[in-house]
Amino acid sequence: MFEQAIAQPIFPTHVWLHALKAEDAARLNQEILAGLDKRMKPLPAIAPGQSWQSSQDLHHFPEFAELVKIFTHASKSVLDTMEVDYETFEITGCWANINPPGAPHPPHTHANNYLSGVYYVQMPAGAGTICYHDPRQQRDVLEPKFKKLNKFNSLFQNVKVDAGTLIIFPSWLGHSVPPNPSQGERISISFNIMFSDYARTISPPRWNGIQLKRD
Ligand SMILES: [Fe+2]
Repeated sequence: MFEQAIAQPIFPTHVWLHALKAEDAARLNQEILAGLDKRMKPLPAIAPGQSWQSSQDLHHFPEFAELVKIFTHASKSVLDTMEVDYETFEITGCWANINPPGAPHPPHTHANNYLSGVYYVQMPAGAGTICYHDPRQQRDVLEPKFKKLNKFNSLFQNVKVDAGTLIIFPSWLGHSVPPNPSQGERISISFNIMFSDYARTISPPRWNGIQLKRD
């Protein structure tokens, strides 16, 4: 009937996946674990099914300098691909997450930042999923039954991640992490970035008005 029929995405929401080379990830992950061990011992006891997070200042410690470099490089790459016009950005928070067996991470966003990311340090088999939530607010006003969930109809999108994966996403995009189904700990490092000096460099209006006479 038609010469062509396509489904063209409009207003797509992207998450940006980066994978380190396996040998680089193995070395870096050992260094990160050693850094966490050095800086965060003794860890408080974590109740079964409960998560643990570090303070949000990991980016100021030398043990995590290489990771910060990777975060900065990848974030710049995303901003460049998006063709964002900015002067500088900075990491505003960086913290470790430990999910013991059974521990989920409830739905949340990373408010007051532009991009956020997670790097996976230790990933037990079967635990490597992060779930993104459909940001279109009206999307669930009508929710027919679907024969099968797919990218056209799901309210949630699971993204597979593994040790050595860095995922970057818009900070406003809601997400959660399913309970860790394994017997090992899932360990990740999260971060946020924001434009430096945002109020001065980005917030002022960008239209031309009638110029006032100046003395
Ligand atoms: Fe998060």
